[in-house]
Amino acid sequence: MAEETVTTKVLMEEKRVFKPPEDLVKNSNVWQWMKKKGFTDEREMRDWTQKNYVDFWDEMAQTYADWHEPYTQVLDWKPPYAKWFLGGKINVTYNCVDRHAKSWRKNKLAYIGYGEPQGEVWKLTYGDLYREVNKLANGLKSLGVKAGDKVSIYLPMVPQLPIAMLACAKIGAIHSVVFSGFSVGAYAARVEDADSIVSITIDGFYRRGKIVELKKQADEALAKCPKIKHQIVYKRAGNEVPMNTGTWKDVWWHELCANQSSECDPVFVDSEHRLYILYTSGTTGKPKGIEHAQGGYMVGPPQTLHWVFDLKEDDVWWCAADIGWVTGHSYIVYGPLNLGATCVMYEGSPDYPDIGRWWSIIEESGTTVLYTTPTAIRMFMRAGEAWPAKYNLKSLRLLGTVGEPINPEAWIWYRKNIGRDQLQIMDTWWQTETGTFAVSPLPITPLKPGSATLPLPGFGVDVLDDQGDPVPVGSGGNVVQTTPWPAMLRDFYKDPARYMQTYWEFYWKTHPGYYLAGDKGRRDEDGYFFIQGRIDDVLKIAGHRLGNSEVESAAVSHPAVAEAAVIGKPDEVKGEVIIVFACLKEGVKESEELRKELAAHIRKELGPLATPEAIYFVKDVPKTRSGKIMRRVIRSRAMGQDPGDISTLANPEAVEAIPKIV
Ligand code: PRX
Repeated sequence: MAEETVTTKVLMEEKRVFKPPEDLVKNSNVWQWMKKKGFTDEREMRDWTQKNYVDFWDEMAQTYADWHEPYTQVLDWKPPYAKWFLGGKINVTYNCVDRHAKSWRKNKLAYIGYGEPQGEVWKLTYGDLYREVNKLANGLKSLGVKAGDKVSIYLPMVPQLPIAMLACAKIGAIHSVVFSGFSVGAYAARVEDADSIVSITIDGFYRRGKIVELKKQADEALAKCPKIKHQIVYKRAGNEVPMNTGTWKDVWWHELCANQSSECDPVFVDSEHRLYILYTSGTTGKPKGIEHAQGGYMVGPPQTLHWVFDLKEDDVWWCAADIGWVTGHSYIVYGPLNLGATCVMYEGSPDYPDIGRWWSIIEESGTTVLYTTPTAIRMFMRAGEAWPAKYNLKSLRLLGTVGEPINPEAWIWYRKNIGRDQLQIMDTWWQTETGTFAVSPLPITPLKPGSATLPLPGFGVDVLDDQGDPVPVGSGGNVVQTTPWPAMLRDFYKDPARYMQTYWEFYWKTHPGYYLAGDKGRRDEDGYFFIQGRIDDVLKIAGHRLGNSEVESAAVSHPAVAEAAVIGKPDEVKGEVIIVFACLKEGVKESEELRKELAAHIRKELGPLATPEAIYFVKDVPKTRSGKIMRRVIRSRAMGQDPGDISTLANPEAVEAIPKIV
């Protein structure tokens, strides 16, 4: 558990409330809706939409989604499974691209993409997007891909990534995007588990001025994935790549699409038809494939984006996440495109060629709304105020954060240096599983730094103790969602038992149908939520989720390692960093070289995100009698805290041997 991170310490001390300016409130999308409905009070509106959540979502589904065939039932809720908009037929790509390309928006920019090398800019209108998506969709069909087939996508932040996702959705294929910062082992495991028949990748892309040879990594991974029949390769960096003709066949994207028609009829699917699988870390070494549905995705992401970030027709929206994570799925692709918005994308590193790059992109693109992570803000904070001060950021009108708790110090810095001491910050709490923001301010909400404020309209969220009773004001408890919502996860791919066990079993006896989010949180006297961190063994490295056991599995896959325990250590910038305690096999000698080799091995298996901050060699790791590694005990001991009662451990002496790391 990441209880006492750097963030919580200062939380208690920041007591200011930041009221939204009158003109923001009165012009906001949510206010317009409230006026129409006769609401004058935010709390009243939030309460009403929660109590009447089925009617509320029904109205939102009519507002944001274009149904090919109307649904006949809003919700079928048989915990732990919800089905939304039954009987409805829909196509996500029709909603996100076709209907705009056939309207006045055909010449409106959908994406302004910046390559890392300066001066490289890709501009795609909705009309361009329509043609590119259709060609690739036809290309996929020519390779035999049909509705329901799985396609793994391993691409960096170039416009071809959303194009590939939309091409899949257009023909009802299910995409599984894997973050391009993940490495060989991670891609192989996700391709294999998803039963993908096609992989889409790139020759290489730019990161900190160097070419990352992604196809090379993809090839190494696919060698372990016999179900893959074809790989589509987008040519970007021009680095030499071999084209495989063996168990799978490589084809260049441009050759595949060269003779394809730029028209492709959408395959209209049932509302519950799966849109995508996205793997996320849990408490075991094996990542879980979260499934999301087409219908719900054309309601939740656009509605929440429209209300929380208040997108207007002329906004330039920059969600600076990577599409390899859920944030990008919902808020760089499906939410904003449904709304016909203009999105900024950036391929590279925020510090290339210098730490002013993001601010230069904002100035150049005229970004009006910026959404990023606390880790990024803390990194900019460290680099100093002088960097953003060099650029004209006046186009910005609203800010946001996501992924981890934000410490008030970073919040205040963000507001002052990026937001001219004027802009409101939407601290949105949500997860891969929720698909959309669930607890978040609206532009009409008074803000408290460090708080994601209140459950959004249509969401039931509570904080309960382990017995299922509400916790008193100010006390910590488990964050739960009490009612289903349209963009919620539908299942774990091929693992319904684990789905039940992870989210629903905990409160099944007292509150069947309550969703256990896996976060600890508290509420203050105004009902404002403060998220305190995970209750399970999931690391949050720079806001990205990584399972302790995933890193442990990568460590023990090194031939010298017999066992490994991984903990997160609080870090001022990244929130947490990875510490590995490794037991070596009999006869293997400890050495600095081996330490480096092991770090490189973990990085190669999982990717740069998983690079350990430090590796300690130990004789043994503390375990229960049933063999479960006691990470909590290890963490306490390593952090110089009292590890508590260790008498029930199988090897209490191992605790002593854990070095103090602070
Ligand atoms: O612990 C919470 C944290 O991120 C987790 C979800 O991670 P992931 O599925 O990777 O999605 C991240 C982007 C949506 C949550 O369980 N988290 C997310 N947003 C916040 C947060 N913690 C505190 N404040 C937030 N705003």
